[in-house]
Amino acid sequence: MIRVLFVCLGNICRSPTAHGVLLARLQEEDLLDKVSVDSAGTGDWHVGKPPDKRAQKTALQRKVDISDQRARQINESDFHKFDYILAMDRSNLSDLKVMHSHAGGTEPRLFLRAFGRSFDEHEVPDPYYGGDAGFRHVLDLIEDACEGLLTDIEGKLVHKRNTKQQHQKQQQQQKNNASVNESSSD
Ligand code: 4NP
Repeated sequence: MIRVLFVCLGNICRSPTAHGVLLARLQEEDLLDKVSVDSAGTGDWHVGKPPDKRAQKTALQRKVDISDQRARQINESDFHKFDYILAMDRSNLSDLKVMHSHAGGTEPRLFLRAFGRSFDEHEVPDPYYGGDAGFRHVLDLIEDACEGLLTDIEGKLVHKRNTKQQHQKQQQQQKNNASVNESSSD
């Protein structure tokens, strides 16, 4: 399993949106049994709450339902559970880097810088105090970077499959050699 964690400040706008968008794409690609997705906030103000209504509405306009999600706060054990830890902005990244310096494990990365393709922006701006256009822009940026992320994940899955096949081949070869040795010593 490859595990992805998206992180923003409150876990009610940007990271639940990214979580929902990637999940929908994984479903389309029939990869839900190979990749899992989660999201969290660096802050704890909204823990247990569903995503912001405006984020829910904007995601639904793109056929992504995020209403079932509930906010949670990131903790140090997450750095050992996830293969990708993706921050929405530099402030989130800086908070995550402090946690990572204690926790070790997976290095947090800036989501758009790592995987964005079509936009010249490296941060998903916080839409909380803005209007609907801000939420739509968040969706545009996230949808674009999710395509880059999906390509990276698919590359990892191919690598995993090749490594597994190689290992199985080696094991079969060893078994074959062992049985040849056994029969020649009879
Ligand atoms: P998010 O947006 O980090 O994308 O979930 C925010 C949600 C709430 C607050 C700030 C940002 N807040 O200050 O409560």
